[in-house]
Amino acid sequence: MDDLLNRTRAAVWHPCTQMKQLEAAPPLAIARGEGPWLIDPDGRRYLDAISSWWVNLFGHCNPRINAAITDQLGKIEHVMLAGATHEPVVALSERLAKLTGLGHAFYGSDGASATEIALKMSAHYWRNAGRAEKNGFISLKNGYHGETVGALSVTDIPLFKDTYAPLLRHSVQVPTPDARLAAPGESAEAYALRCAAALEAHLAEHAATTAALIIEPLVQGAAGMAMYHPAYLSRARELCDRYQVHLIADEIAVGFGRTGTMFACEQAAVRPDFICLSKGITGGYLPLSAVLTTDDVYAAFYGDATARGFLHSHSYTGNPLACRAALAVLDIFEHDNVIAANRVKAIDFASVMAEVAAHSRVRHFRHLGMIWAFDVTDTPPGFSTRFHRAALAQDAFIRPIGNTVYVMPPYVTSADEMRGLADAMLVCLSSPDI
Ligand SMILES: Cc1ncc(COP(=O)(O)O)c(C=O)c1O
Repeated sequence: MDDLLNRTRAAVWHPCTQMKQLEAAPPLAIARGEGPWLIDPDGRRYLDAISSWWVNLFGHCNPRINAAITDQLGKIEHVMLAGATHEPVVALSERLAKLTGLGHAFYGSDGASATEIALKMSAHYWRNAGRAEKNGFISLKNGYHGETVGALSVTDIPLFKDTYAPLLRHSVQVPTPDARLAAPGESAEAYALRCAAALEAHLAEHAATTAALIIEPLVQGAAGMAMYHPAYLSRARELCDRYQVHLIADEIAVGFGRTGTMFACEQAAVRPDFICLSKGITGGYLPLSAVLTTDDVYAAFYGDATARGFLHSHSYTGNPLACRAALAVLDIFEHDNVIAANRVKAIDFASVMAEVAAHSRVRHFRHLGMIWAFDVTDTPPGFSTRFHRAALAQDAFIRPIGNTVYVMPPYVTSADEMRGLADAMLVCLSSPDI
């Protein structure tokens, strides 16, 4: 195992990591996975409590997803999607259209590429509509939409953004409806509506030069699982309609059942103009993202002039293996009635988590669907790393964001496994040096 850690330090540049810190805190070597468990080369098991950066839905090495990919491997692994098509991409597009109520699906690889696609499509739509000056973007304070240059422009996490500020295009951030920021005595709903009023004030002045508002519906993940009231989404939809600005729902993290409905927007009965999907779309197996949009947007690109079309591409757009994994995921949702089953599971998990919620260091305990999060008081410097290491000692893979601890386990996690996770968090919270 030491040999692997030396080789990883020598050859791999790890994501979102100051590499020097790996000297003191080496990455976890993983040889296999099984259900919600990550297994190291010595056979020690760690519960994948954050679903491998929020991508895994139905466990590692899921037999049904494995079988779909294996079947596709015997047919064709990849063909370019410009000038060719194939059954998996067509079938997936049809099913996603039914689920989202949005017509055509455009594919990318990771979440950030979906954000880029949605931003470009929105601005291009307005250009095709003869309103090229509508090319500005609005996002929420503390929002996160990915790390590529366009996506980072609408992201608002200083640690990720500030260094690259000279490379980024200006965008505007409006107040976040994060319920933790409500005034004393103010309800989450009242605060959400107060933030929506700030959005309206901005739109009233700048709609003529604004293409779209991009938001993470209901949960701002990278902000530390900041949750907000659906009233914000409903009001944002009304305002975007009134001021003729697109609503881009970045459901990259919250889509595919995470918040308790297939898509978070459903909880506000909102249909966005664009929806960005990734992460759970393949159950955590293969990189794939998709942007779906309305027939109205699609029609604005349709015509004789080539430049009126959306001339964006990635080599692996619509990869058949990834599409088959995604189709297998949708089959599991359907056949196992996953959304309903998760509702029952979440009730069990909530009772398991009650002791954590009651811990004296826990503030703003929050829960939505299959996400649980809380903030920790009196944290020492390096809290996140300390907690992560201590949780590993308790067989749990958890990575706090700042002083926020969260878990969003694979949907195949059992109540007993969740109990183990809660116990691990309680041990960490009561540890004198965390
Ligand atoms: C809401 C949201 N949008 C976009 C992204 C970027 O996705 P990726 O890391 O696959 O590029 C993420 C990743 O965490 C995300 O949470």
